[in-house]
Amino acid sequence: MSDLVTDAIASLTPYESGKPIEELARELGVHDAIKLASNENPLGPSPKAIEAARAALADVNRYPDAAAYRLREKLAAFHHVAMDEIIHGNGSNELIELLIRTFTTERDHIVYAWPSFVVYRLASLAHNTPFTAVPLKDHAHDLEAMAAAVTPQTRLMFVANPNNPTGTHVGRESLRRLLTSVPSDVIIVLDEAYIQYADADDFPDSLELRSTRERLVTLRTFSKIYGLASFRVGYAIGPRRLIDYMNRVRAPFNVGAVSQAAAMAALDDTDHVEKSVRINREQRAVVSDGFRELGLDVAPSQTNFVFVDAGRDGREVYDALLRLGVIVRPMAPGTSFLRVTVGTEAENQRCLAAFKKVLSS
Ligand SMILES: Cc1ncc(COP(=O)(O)O)c(C=O)c1O
Repeated sequence: MSDLVTDAIASLTPYESGKPIEELARELGVHDAIKLASNENPLGPSPKAIEAARAALADVNRYPDAAAYRLREKLAAFHHVAMDEIIHGNGSNELIELLIRTFTTERDHIVYAWPSFVVYRLASLAHNTPFTAVPLKDHAHDLEAMAAAVTPQTRLMFVANPNNPTGTHVGRESLRRLLTSVPSDVIIVLDEAYIQYADADDFPDSLELRSTRERLVTLRTFSKIYGLASFRVGYAIGPRRLIDYMNRVRAPFNVGAVSQAAAMAALDDTDHVEKSVRINREQRAVVSDGFRELGLDVAPSQTNFVFVDAGRDGREVYDALLRLGVIVRPMAPGTSFLRVTVGTEAENQRCLAAFKKVLSS
């Protein structure tokens, strides 16, 4: 027991986000490294978002609108919900933390899947809330096991749909069953960071299932399809009462004015979103087929990344790819899995060629 922090905080390791490309290039003598590690939009942001951000720079001596009024007004119209059913966050990451801080204590309990987005675990540990991490089944959420893991203490359940890092999804009927079977006092959080990339016929939009359950919160982000990861804008949609409590805990100026301006413009640029979806769909197939041709197993992806079984120690493959200037995301030590973001056509070809080289050595 540390004299400074809880055992849970002492057990944490900082979020592994990978080295800056320039740093790696310097260390490895690679000058054209490509980063396929963080599921960003390889096409970049909408030019209209950049323009809006530039225009907003003139006023950065002022604090941003603490309530993000205009952004929430726009989002409310976009999603056909009320403004007070939306809360903005410094990325959806902040909203995950806010949910845990607002609604749980060390006497409560959280359920999420494993492996899934690592912040569910980090934030639960940091807040000292006990949790159950329910193993995936065939790389996908095992909703029955998650429902069975609920106890009278459970306050929150996180479901990433589609899931990170596996890219798999939960279908509409299974989700509906979960929403109607889990006790009504549990807040179920549908983290839909990658929803725009999903194209399965049975892919559910949790916003259309709001009538099935009061305690349902949807998380969305501008970091993925909208290409604004660095601006840190996410939002949650949920019942007024929950959003109101989260707002009491939220830091007042959590999303900067430049970010708010960029997000509003990005939301309007539907052409950029459609182009990003189309190119990702084509290239996701190229990457998945390319891995299969190399004899590797790939999980079915509904996202802008592919979860691949390298068939040998994943960290070793990661290191070898790194030396070829291809940065992907390794999974837990001792496993053979890697998560590879779908990049541009040229990046994907280079990535597949690097895999081929590494696997044949
Ligand atoms: C499933 C999922 N949720 C949430 C996030 C957090 O995104 P952000 O904080 O950039 O909105 C990520 C980022 O990778 C993610 O994969």
